Amino acid sequence: MPVTIKDVARESGVNISTVSRALNNDYGVNDRTREHVTAVAARLGYHPNRVARGLVTGRTHSLALLVSDIRNPFFAEVARGAEDAARAANCDLVLCNSDLDAHKQMEYVSSLIEKRVDGILMNSVAPLSRDQQAQLAACGVPIVLLNRFSSNRAFSTACADNEAGGVLAARYLLDLGHTRIAHLTGPRLHGNLSDRAHGFLRTLQSAKPPVRPVVLHGQFSFDGGCALARQVLDKHPDVTAIFAANDVMAYGVARVFLERGMRIPEDMSLIGFDNLEFSNLLHPPLTTIHQPKYEMGHAAVEILLRLSRDRTRQVPEHRLLGVELIERQSCRKIP
Ligand code: RIB
Repeated sequence: MPVTIKDVARESGVNISTVSRALNNDYGVNDRTREHVTAVAARLGYHPNRVARGLVTGRTHSLALLVSDIRNPFFAEVARGAEDAARAANCDLVLCNSDLDAHKQMEYVSSLIEKRVDGILMNSVAPLSRDQQAQLAACGVPIVLLNRFSSNRAFSTACADNEAGGVLAARYLLDLGHTRIAHLTGPRLHGNLSDRAHGFLRTLQSAKPPVRPVVLHGQFSFDGGCALARQVLDKHPDVTAIFAANDVMAYGVARVFLERGMRIPEDMSLIGFDNLEFSNLLHPPLTTIHQPKYEMGHAAVEILLRLSRDRTRQVPEHRLLGVELIERQSCRKIP
């Protein structure tokens, strides 16, 4: 039988409410009693029933992180920032993968609400219909969108400046003298990848003379990067530089170059987006756009905690994090 609060009270020689206040750091208990009760609870192996306490306080001290695919190391770094912020606030973080599937997303959110989590971090509501988005915005549990600006301003957001990142990538390639450029990206509805593409294309368009890149859409994964790289090499052999919409896609591109005996950057320049840890280990190290992943996860939890503390003031907050170009050795100058 698990040890109960009654056992701790009996063994400590105080009443149940004193044990509760002592263990919850509440007022009205002197330091000696608190230390005594805490020591007895530890000796007996007592674990407070958080579910029961949640019924009283209305808070369960659990948050959820719903991402499209944790296999992308980008989300591991975001999750690390979110977890550190959650832990500092004495909260647990539950992880769910949505695969950006609207049905799966709605099922998870509904199950998390039933479990009374204090708040949910999601990386996108783009696949959801307007009705589903309205349902989420009114669900009574705070939701913060990670890594994505939503056209639905009802949600708070913590997001990198994706459009500015696209601008940086384009300026860099133009400065190196590239004019035959390909952009490999994800599906059109993917909000932050579209923002990157927008900044990239706008900048190339305003070059003198304007540059019109090849743009190919596919999966924003390693395999997607491989498939799109093969298309570029087969159909557009004159391209000299590729901007991959994220680093994982860039790894796929690099893999295809290896298979075909091509060298980076001698035969093709390559630039990514994210600045994952492994990008520095690639041969040659990948030039990429850094987005502050850890800070994004951390900031999203900070917003969520504020919203979950005061449910009467649900004023959405938007934090935009800066990006920077990390120059390594995967791009060359066109003579
Ligand atoms: O949704 C996945 C992608 O979006 C990541 O690779 C990262 O680029 C993020 O911003």
